[in-house]
Amino acid sequence: MTAHSVSGARMMALGTALPDKVLTNHDLAKMVDTTHEWILERTGIHERRIGGTTAGLAAEAGRVAIERSDIDPATIDLLILATTSPDRRVPATASTVQEMLGLSCGAMDLNAACSGFVYGLIAAHGFINLGHHRVLVIGAETLSRMTDWTDRGTCILFADGAGAAVIEKTEGPGDLHGWHVDSNGALESALYCDFDAKIEMSGQAIFKNAVLAMEHAARQSLEMAEMSAADIDIVIPHQANVRIVEASCKRLGIPYEKTSMVIHRTGNTSSASVPLALEDAWSRGRVKKGDRLLLVGFGAGMTSAAAVITWDGK
Ligand code: ACO
Repeated sequence: MTAHSVSGARMMALGTALPDKVLTNHDLAKMVDTTHEWILERTGIHERRIGGTTAGLAAEAGRVAIERSDIDPATIDLLILATTSPDRRVPATASTVQEMLGLSCGAMDLNAACSGFVYGLIAAHGFINLGHHRVLVIGAETLSRMTDWTDRGTCILFADGAGAAVIEKTEGPGDLHGWHVDSNGALESALYCDFDAKIEMSGQAIFKNAVLAMEHAARQSLEMAEMSAADIDIVIPHQANVRIVEASCKRLGIPYEKTSMVIHRTGNTSSASVPLALEDAWSRGRVKKGDRLLLVGFGAGMTSAAAVITWDGK
């Protein structure tokens, strides 16, 4: 597969949503045996947002992305909702979001844990390559509902939020130059959540494998794009832990200053974290037309995904 055979689409605009309720490290220190200093030093997180439903956050982010794209919502052919915390087992939360946004299109959930948004972005380019005109990709989570608030090993990390992007067909080759998706199911026990249960995690196992998975996915997508790490203007990584991103950047030879990080205020929002970090970079003017972006995610599964794109949006 060459990069050119999957192009022909571009990301038009972004939207995000975060719940109103802020939970600080100091709040957590009143709930479990931990401190603000420990959480900050080990993860980079100051505070996170919790509350709402996955569909509600997804619809809010999707609405903003549609408005910023300045398109007729009726021209959207497909809604892909990346989530690991759907509101119901059945139906797909994407169908609820479709109704909330008043869309007439296909809708499906995609669960690839924290790699979900990047998987969805790549899938959107594929659907457009098969004839769709516009695809709305959303990453949305309410991990607070799956978090054990008495477990200091996990409750310091996870949070809620959503991010969305409108992807549309273009005449030219499009913005996607290289991509990679992966999974290593042998590591399933390192991070899982059974039905009607809470997240169980082996933090150190995830940490070690996340660094390797992120590096591998990034290198594969750069190779397909026929680019080197030095060609990348900004890295949009999954926001799991500042130290994971620092270690991965070091292995890739990319200065940490080239990353967009929002984890200090959002925590780990799984599928939502890449679009939240991308929107933050865009809103600060760190992403300009023609810039080369490396989007890279990893998560339970242990999944990973990366995409090298040129920013051609608003
Ligand atoms: N506050 C204070 N002490 C704590 C806390 C806490 N919240 N949590 C653990 N500790 C203690 C441990 O009990 C241990 O104590 P001990 O030495 O007396 O046994 C000590 O701190 C060190 O524990 P470690 O687990 O070695 O701490 P580590 O430096 O690995 O940090 C952390 C833990 C933050 C969870 C880290 O391992 C991590 O971030 N891992 C990656 C997790 C991750 O990214 N998960 C999401 C993946 S994406 C997805 O799919 C959702």
